[in-house]
Amino acid sequence: MRRSRRSFFDVLAGGRSDAGHDTGLWIAARGREDAQAQAAQGSAVAARPALPPGVKAIRISSNENPLGPGKAALDAIVRKFPEAGRYPFNSTPADSALVTAIATKFGAKNENVVLGAGSQEILKSAVRAFTSPTRGLVTAAPSFENCPQFTKKLGHPVTEIKVDAALRLDLEAMAAAAKGAGLIFLNNPNNPTATVHGSKAVSDFVQKVRAASPDTVILIDEAYHDYVTDPSYESAIPLALQTPNVFVARTFSKAYGMAGLRVGYAIGQAATIKPMAQLKMPYNVSVFGVAAALAAFADTKHMEAERARNAEVRAFTVKALDDLGCKSSDSQGNFLFVETGRPADAFRDACAAQGIMVGRPFPPLEKTHARISLGTMEEMKKATAVFRSVLRPVTTTAGK
Ligand SMILES: Cc1ncc(COP(=O)(O)O)c(C=O)c1O
Repeated sequence: MRRSRRSFFDVLAGGRSDAGHDTGLWIAARGREDAQAQAAQGSAVAARPALPPGVKAIRISSNENPLGPGKAALDAIVRKFPEAGRYPFNSTPADSALVTAIATKFGAKNENVVLGAGSQEILKSAVRAFTSPTRGLVTAAPSFENCPQFTKKLGHPVTEIKVDAALRLDLEAMAAAAKGAGLIFLNNPNNPTATVHGSKAVSDFVQKVRAASPDTVILIDEAYHDYVTDPSYESAIPLALQTPNVFVARTFSKAYGMAGLRVGYAIGQAATIKPMAQLKMPYNVSVFGVAAALAAFADTKHMEAERARNAEVRAFTVKALDDLGCKSSDSQGNFLFVETGRPADAFRDACAAQGIMVGRPFPPLEKTHARISLGTMEEMKKATAVFRSVLRPVTTTAGK
């Protein structure tokens, strides 16, 4: 039977799950990830461990928000379907409304904001704009790999500074390596180690680098900003707006639950972010992304609830792993970096055999640590039961 456009939208908007989401969308978002994602994404996904037939995955491998967008954002997406035929600048509100909303939230002007198709577009543009064969990238190891991978692809030098004993960015060593660099990637909180530096440490770092190497651009990636509970932390956005050659990257992919919609942005002084505006793909953020991001920004109550939900799940999971003798670093994100004492790929494969998809190996700590993203409480209860069986100490009968 052919469905009319109206009834199609009615179906999308009809029926609520008990979580308050539109059921049609909820079904679309959950439960079909594996077969469809693997078919759609090809080789990158094919490298992931296969699930046993009939086992439904709990996907805690990519630091996604397990609940997806909040209700206001979902409703905004549904309302936008009739405008799917419009370019984002012709939609109402247009993509510039999102730029204005972001600028207003941070007391800035539109010229201080560049949108990206996720913050990865921003990160890539920064590598393109600020590194060269003679001015390389300085980053941490392990940290989010997008910038070093792309810099290496361009054949530009990369200096990787190992995290310290507490798995925090070694800011002193990074500052010392910064002289003459094109770009520094400072991920705060740092993925995958989940640790943060407080605002004073970050502003001292910026001052030190600016004094020694004023032409070096500092990219502070705050993808997990909304999940931080450490009171010493503050966003570096005010610092970036006051300081040349410093900018912050943010994303709607994490706490806002919109990883599939691909919305991120850079914010900083206009002259600093201009090269990224020039490299930006035209119409890089969809009408759905714009509508959802605007609605999500306005829904501050939902963000508070999401932050509290994550903190509760985080405390539960840290304790469950601690009880197994596996210590986590001080997590300030929606994921843990855990010392399992065994290779990350072996741990990942053993968990996948029971339907629990955890993170990939992160060199140089791939022999001892695993990254576990946080799902819902129900998911983490199931996951920690699997961790208990996988991480059970090997008992030996020798000598008995
Ligand atoms: C630190 C960090 N930055 C940026 C991103 C990219 O996010 P997106 O491109 O989805 O905005 C991620 C994703 O995992 C991340 O962990």
